Amino acid sequence: MSDETKKDSVSEDLARLFGVTPEELIRLFDLSEEQLMELDEVEFRARTRERCHHTMEIPTYESAYFNTPLPADQTATIEKMLRVWDKRGFSHDLVEYRFATTILGFAKKRIAGEPVDLSAYEPKRLTPDEQAAFDCVLYERRSIRQWNLKRHVDDALIDKVLKAGLWGPHGCNLQSVRYMVIREDAEPGLFEGSDVPGGPIHIVVMQDKRCYQANPLMPEFNILLDCGAATQNIVLAVHAYGLGGCWLTFSDVMRERFVRHFSIPDHFNVVTYVDIGWPDQSPCPIWRCEVEEAVVYRSSGRPQK
Ligand SMILES: Cc1cc2nc3c(=O)[nH]c(=O)nc-3n(C[C@H](O)[C@H](O)[C@H](O)COP(=O)(O)O)c2cc1C
Repeated sequence: MSDETKKDSVSEDLARLFGVTPEELIRLFDLSEEQLMELDEVEFRARTRERCHHTMEIPTYESAYFNTPLPADQTATIEKMLRVWDKRGFSHDLVEYRFATTILGFAKKRIAGEPVDLSAYEPKRLTPDEQAAFDCVLYERRSIRQWNLKRHVDDALIDKVLKAGLWGPHGCNLQSVRYMVIREDAEPGLFEGSDVPGGPIHIVVMQDKRCYQANPLMPEFNILLDCGAATQNIVLAVHAYGLGGCWLTFSDVMRERFVRHFSIPDHFNVVTYVDIGWPDQSPCPIWRCEVEEAVVYRSSGRPQK
């Protein structure tokens, strides 16, 4: 199969998967330089992440792993984005530029038929002690609803927790998660209505909807899951770093009050929040149902329920 024919069949498969025509797929994703110049900056950066991920990162790794050829124009989309990046005067220090140029280096090697050495990126395998520490984080985390309000939590520690959230997986690498960090003593009463008295620090997890314009075909479920994945990392990191936290719920009334108080612009979805602080209780962990009960079907040809 020629490179062109192979690419056509890939876009036809993709179009079929999302229920659109191949022409519509091109219209939605393959923007001209002029259109890219006009895009809102947040959307443009999200598009750079998304295009890098789908048009270069995945095919390049596939080519490197299976030692299959990579078409010469596989990098065209991202090279166009990087040209526009420069025309718009964005910094080369921004993460998507650094990532895209790294993957571009790999892709060019594959196009030239050279191997790509990814050994430097091989994840470190955990030792048995490290695996035990991971189990400890996973199974000893529990929701903490009372905190030692006299003990200050430094911004540096909060930032470690926020960073853990950003390292959660994101649909299409859109990276839409944004935070607001509220100290109760500095801005009291904003979370009134919560069913727990409230921690000294509230981490509000939001999404920048402009990132989702970069993939108009993103299934709606993914949108909330991005925030869920970040928040899960947050509660694990809180426990791992010795803090205590509870994932909490905005009622509609609380969310509206919060949005109004900060005049949060429409492009942010205020999704959820976590209260954190130094723990002042040690509740019994809530036992989980057994794996057998959770698995309603297992592909052994023998349905379990
Ligand atoms: C989406 C979500 C919303 C939650 N909302 C609340 C809440 O409003 N109030 C609360 O006390 N706990 C809330 N929790 C915490 C759960 O009650 C808690 O995770 C669950 O009971 C399991 O306990 P554990 O976290 O100690 O393992 C929430 C958890 C999630 C994932």
